[in-house]
Amino acid sequence: MVIEPRMRGFICLTAHPDGCAKSVKNQIEYVKSKGSVDGAKKVLVIGASTGFGLASRITSAFGSGAATIGVFFEKPPSEGKTASPGWYNSAAFEKEAKSAGLYAKSINGDAFSDEVKQQAMDMIKADLGQVDLVIYSLASPVRTDPKTGILHRSTLKPIGNTFTNKTVDFHTGNVTQVSIEPANEEEIANTVKVMGGEDWAMWIDALKAAGLLAQGAMTIAYSYIGPAVTEAVYRKGTIGRAKDHLEATAFSITDSLKDIGGKAYVSVNKALVTQASSAIPVIPLYISLLYKIMKEKGIHEGCIEQIQRLFQDRLYADGGIPTDDQGRIRIDDWEMRDDVQEKVAALWERSTTETLPGIGDLAGYKNDFLNLFGFEFAGVDYMADANEMVSVESIP
Ligand code: NAD
Ligand code: NA
Repeated sequence: MVIEPRMRGFICLTAHPDGCAKSVKNQIEYVKSKGSVDGAKKVLVIGASTGFGLASRITSAFGSGAATIGVFFEKPPSEGKTASPGWYNSAAFEKEAKSAGLYAKSINGDAFSDEVKQQAMDMIKADLGQVDLVIYSLASPVRTDPKTGILHRSTLKPIGNTFTNKTVDFHTGNVTQVSIEPANEEEIANTVKVMGGEDWAMWIDALKAAGLLAQGAMTIAYSYIGPAVTEAVYRKGTIGRAKDHLEATAFSITDSLKDIGGKAYVSVNKALVTQASSAIPVIPLYISLLYKIMKEKGIHEGCIEQIQRLFQDRLYADGGIPTDDQGRIRIDDWEMRDDVQEKVAALWERSTTETLPGIGDLAGYKNDFLNLFGFEFAGVDYMADANEMVSVESIP
């Protein structure tokens, strides 16, 4: 069938299989163009189908020749209905990996559950023996605690005071004021439960107990800090509390891995258009200004550029892994440069529905958003019939 984007609020209900395949191919080409990285050879990626996790899987496979197991939660296609983009991305990734002679298998299910952890461990045991890198890149609005069975829901709210600032509806370009009421204690705790480090630690504990982590294994999770304008709703809000918890968890995981010489790190990444970030108020306006400035300065990066740089210049560079004074790896260094942030702050003041198309990169935002779903890629014939019934080879 001919597949077109069908929008509803912050999401697109359709995805294009050929466009997603093109996206994966473009990312593979980018990684190859940067040369090889002497990195991990057996990699587990939790949250492997989109965004930073997919970029991590591609960088491991095509930068370091790694065997990869990817865990994700995606919707398969059904007759006349497209799959979610991560499904098509993963189908394309496996195909490309296979033709390059690389092992790649995937698990589609709830990574927070004991069952999926067990499934991944069985797969590692049977096929790889051990892993030497575990990437933890989940972004989810909900988590069922496997011990209690309770479903926790995260919220994106400020803490303490009502937050009022500008935001943009990137579909219409309308810049408006948004006010968000502060979270209560329960909402804070729930957000930490979903997006904090508890599940990361559970994965690593389980893998270690089963003897599936190689000597010197590393594990990486992703965090965000960002500028003053988003601080109240992001870093000092509910999600920020979860990130604080995630960052603290890196230290406790490192402690637990002492006897195998293992280490856990958090990498602070750049603000990018992903399904997760487009749902956060205020962030899309910030991103559209940030993109404009970083593109002008020639320092704009997408997920794949960020992660390729993380692996090449940070994780596997000579001379150890550079971190900030809180032990975090910083690949948001270009975003946070003074000359970039000063310009964003100045443009923020001036941004209105009328000025934004000129002073911000709203078009770039929209393009990246459509790209997430496999639309707007050069070299894809969107008028042609596409086969939505694509399978991920390793998934029965
Ligand atoms: P994303 O939405 O693109 O990817 C989320 C991944 O998690 C997908 O592979 C999805 O299938 C998987 N997933 C979600 N729920 C799952 C579940 N229950 N079981 C198994 N898999 C599940 O998100 P992203 O933007 O790449 O975010 C990944 C991490 O990077 C998050 O920790 C996020 O906070 C962080 N980060 C994002 C940004 C940004 O601007 N997007 C910036 C810095 C850090
Ligand atoms: Na991801």
